[in-house]
Amino acid sequence: MEQVWSGQPNGALVSETAGLLPGKALDVGCGEGADAVWLAEHGWDVTALDVSQAALARAARHAEHARVPVRWVHAGLVEASLPPGTFDLVSAQYPALLRTEDHDAEAALLAAVAPGGTLLVVHHANIDEEQLRARGIEPEDYVSRSDVAALLDDTWRIEVNETRPRHVTAGAGSHHTHDVILRARRLN
Ligand SMILES: C[S@@+](CC[C@H](N)C(=O)[O-])C[C@H]1O[C@@H](n2cnc3c(N)ncnc32)[C@H](O)[C@@H]1O
Repeated sequence: MEQVWSGQPNGALVSETAGLLPGKALDVGCGEGADAVWLAEHGWDVTALDVSQAALARAARHAEHARVPVRWVHAGLVEASLPPGTFDLVSAQYPALLRTEDHDAEAALLAAVAPGGTLLVVHHANIDEEQLRARGIEPEDYVSRSDVAALLDDTWRIEVNETRPRHVTAGAGSHHTHDVILRARRLN
């Protein structure tokens, strides 16, 4: 099957991790693994998680080609039962996490971050909701930036919460022109 994504790391990941010391990273919904591979190439100890076995197989090939180690986990974020407070960086780039009444996915994202660690959640801005609904996708069913932000209490410092232009000219998703970026630091 053809590769769907560009193979390039997401721009927001590259820019938002520029000031961070590499440690343990979790890439949630890693897809074909471009971000996971890029993080590993830049000194991070990477765990990458996705529900799609096909995406993970491609991601593993990508990592093999780049000769970097990445721990691939075939599971949903909530079902993975990750050890809490472990990751210096938890990155979710364009996540398609189902929203639940108990906010399970958002809670799992926050719980995975180590004290002093960074949570980075990036969504597409200006989504054409009608077009999604025409394709049978209900945007309200998915965790949004504000769902995550709503759980950030005073044990977190929000460092970035803004919409920025995105520069992607090729591959699936290249029609999205702006990102919504939420970056927060876990204080304790
Ligand atoms: C829009 S893609 C984004 C992929 C990648 N992060 C990127 O930026 O190219 C969303 C990914 O999330 C995965 N996914 C969906 N639900 C998930 C869940 N509950 N836990 C982990 N991954 C999930 C999908 O299989 C898909 O690979």
